[in-house]
Amino acid sequence: MLAGKHILLIVGGGIAAFKALDLVRRLREREAQVTPVLTKAGVEFVTPLSLSALSAAKVYQDLFNLTDEAEMGHIELSRAADLIVVAPATADLMAKMAGGLANDLASTLLLATDKRVLIAPSMNVRMWDHPATGRNLATLKSDGVLVVGPNEGDMACGEYGPGRMAEVPEIIDAIASALADGPLKGRHILVTSGPTHEPIDPVRYIANRSSGAQGTAIAGALAGLGADVTFVTGPADVPPPAGVNVVNVQTARQMLEAVQAARAADAAVFAAAVADWHVTNAGDSKIKKDGSGLPTLEFAENPDILATVSEMKEGRPKLVVGFAAETDDVIAHATAKRVRKGCDWIVANDVSPETGIMGGSENAVTLISDAGADSWPRMTKDQVARQLAQRIAEAMT
Ligand code: CTP
Repeated sequence: MLAGKHILLIVGGGIAAFKALDLVRRLREREAQVTPVLTKAGVEFVTPLSLSALSAAKVYQDLFNLTDEAEMGHIELSRAADLIVVAPATADLMAKMAGGLANDLASTLLLATDKRVLIAPSMNVRMWDHPATGRNLATLKSDGVLVVGPNEGDMACGEYGPGRMAEVPEIIDAIASALADGPLKGRHILVTSGPTHEPIDPVRYIANRSSGAQGTAIAGALAGLGADVTFVTGPADVPPPAGVNVVNVQTARQMLEAVQAARAADAAVFAAAVADWHVTNAGDSKIKKDGSGLPTLEFAENPDILATVSEMKEGRPKLVVGFAAETDDVIAHATAKRVRKGCDWIVANDVSPETGIMGGSENAVTLISDAGADSWPRMTKDQVARQLAQRIAEAMT
């Protein structure tokens, strides 16, 4: 899958730079061509000689090196790549990218490219948790930059938390999905997934039984057909698929905001089990059993994300796909829901407890469109996802 692909690898100055050496080896084993770019800070962690020996290529370091420019100008360097990978992506590199700075070779390449960019962030936990990094990450994601990791664990600085660079096999998987060729290449598809959590107080919330498995499988299948996927997910039981742009949210209102902040999409699949209501009198502090009686919760309806997108006057995705989780009169309810919400297709399923579908690994769905109702046999959620992705690809071409 990676054979013959050209990867421009930008190695930033972080302790995880040593993993970049292994990344180069593993990419070469898969017959990818790697051109390394080493930042000034990166040189403090790995030597140009090691990178060049492992990649069997010249290592580029300097924006104003006339010999380098004569061999391959910096603009050409980014144009020649199939994918740009930044590993490790330090807080500084992310800030430069988000701000559009171009004051060294790495940042200039990143600004001058129209190719896809995948970053593997790596930094101290407090730098990762800092609101500035959070803002930069959100900007990069909405610019379409792919992100793998970081993972949570022990850090070189002796602390524990999120900020460790993703492991090499995870980065390779993300690279493979980003480079996946297929009928959906060049298409941006938005997928919502998982349950939402609606707070009652700082420690309690209202949720539902959705595991996020079906939405996750759909996002993975779409990426596998080459789509650029923005994956907006509530707190799911399963990890997100590789090679998609993950946006984590908790509540329905945050999910709507994330969907509206995403780049214009060619298609959108709303697989999330969005809570219908949120608690309007949610407490800022924990509700206590203080003898004053039982608490009374007041509710307001959540925004309908699917209906909001379906009704968009400008920039509406060409294909909007909703789900209808029903427990009785599945097809009739789903058909009515499709009209009510204004979406193009509805994937209906029976989620009565005896089906074991909610939270299980299988699904039995009916695809309802203008063409009528098409019932698929019971199959795994992965198979449903692949079949749906295939149908979406056919509809988009
Ligand atoms: N949906 C949404 N936003 C909401 C509620 C639902 O985007 N606030 C989407 C779901 O992601 C799904 C579809 O709408 O694609 C149908 O969800 P479902 O829960 O079956 O429908 P409801 O609107 O909740 O209808 P009802 O409770 O009457 O069955």
